[in-house]
Amino acid sequence: MKVVITGGGGFLGSQLALKLIERGNLIGPSGAPEPIDSITLFDAHFSLPIEAMQTEEGAAVDLALLSGDMGDRDAVFSVIDRDDLAVFHLASMVSGECEQRFDDALRANLDGGRYLLEALREREGKPRLVFASSVAAFGGEVMPDCVTDSTKCTPQTTYGMTKVIGELMINDYSRKGFLDGRSARLPTIIIRPGKPNAAASSWASGMFREPLNGEPCYLPVHRDQCHPVLGYHDVIDSFIALHEADPALIGDDRAFGLPSHRISVAEALTVMEQVAAEFGIQPGLVIDDPNPAIQSIVDTWPTATNGTRALKIGVPEPKPLKEIVRDYVRDFVVT
Ligand SMILES: NC(=O)c1ccc[n+]([C@@H]2O[C@H](COP(=O)([O-])OP(=O)(O)OC[C@H]3O[C@@H](n4cnc5c(N)ncnc54)[C@H](O)[C@@H]3O)[C@@H](O)[C@H]2O)c1
Repeated sequence: MKVVITGGGGFLGSQLALKLIERGNLIGPSGAPEPIDSITLFDAHFSLPIEAMQTEEGAAVDLALLSGDMGDRDAVFSVIDRDDLAVFHLASMVSGECEQRFDDALRANLDGGRYLLEALREREGKPRLVFASSVAAFGGEVMPDCVTDSTKCTPQTTYGMTKVIGELMINDYSRKGFLDGRSARLPTIIIRPGKPNAAASSWASGMFREPLNGEPCYLPVHRDQCHPVLGYHDVIDSFIALHEADPALIGDDRAFGLPSHRISVAEALTVMEQVAAEFGIQPGLVIDDPNPAIQSIVDTWPTATNGTRALKIGVPEPKPLKEIVRDYVRDFVVT
């Protein structure tokens, strides 16, 4: 079967591709595990390390990198070119970008999502689709501190609005029998390697990454700030678990909040320092640098998630925070 990962040039998409190459199979349209013969990463941009991932000729999985824009209907249809497909829809403009570029956000996240669903609708059978949604689906005055799958979706950002509409479209395309979609509402995923990005949650990775890389970290939020986080290995395993989950267990609400850790900045920094000591790293300084614009967006987010429904259908329990930080050092920090 063929796997398509939109946003496959990004952090989670590229990690997912590596995991699927290693795993070698997924449940196909037959309802049984089928070998993956090809993976296409569809993205507007690819960075160098991902280009280096291309598999060698003759490898069991043919990995293709396809540059294209989700807002280009023909490009999206061109990638959905087989019936034996599994799709992971991760392409998205991030929260900070969506606030600044409203029209682009509608084009990439809403139009792009709909083109993908329409392309899948034209295929035979009911391809499985996993969509990366976000806890930004929640927000505002009615939001409790800990969100559950029964919490009303009241997003307070354009990004969050596009995620909720994506979830609703997936529910309806699935109800109509056009495809078999499942959405994962992600908390903030740590620790993102590389440079800070335009997400308002960028500091949640930065407070580990910069010090562990021996660089200073400028903290835009206060140290009591609590935040729901999940490790990148856990979220990749959760995407795969959602894909593999028995359709009979999914029900009519196909959006599943993922479990997470509720951690404060102060707790995170303590764990970062402990892991740095284990690996003999001298961490960079953490400098308080309050940013009211970022703090005001973060103030609209929940501080904890309840992933009970997701756990029931096979999503794994999150690893302890210390393990997540150790994974990052092993995977991305040269010690
Ligand atoms: N990482 C997190 O903390 C987190 C939290 C909640 C939700 N999510 C969601 O998970 C998904 C993956 O997140 P990530 O951290 O890998 O983000 P990322 O920014 O690294 O990857 C997203 C990719 O989408 C691509 N993209 C954006 N607009 C596009 C367009 N118009 N056409 C084609 N490609 C386009 C980008 O180039 C990027 O490579 C996203 O949908 C994101 O909203 C992530």
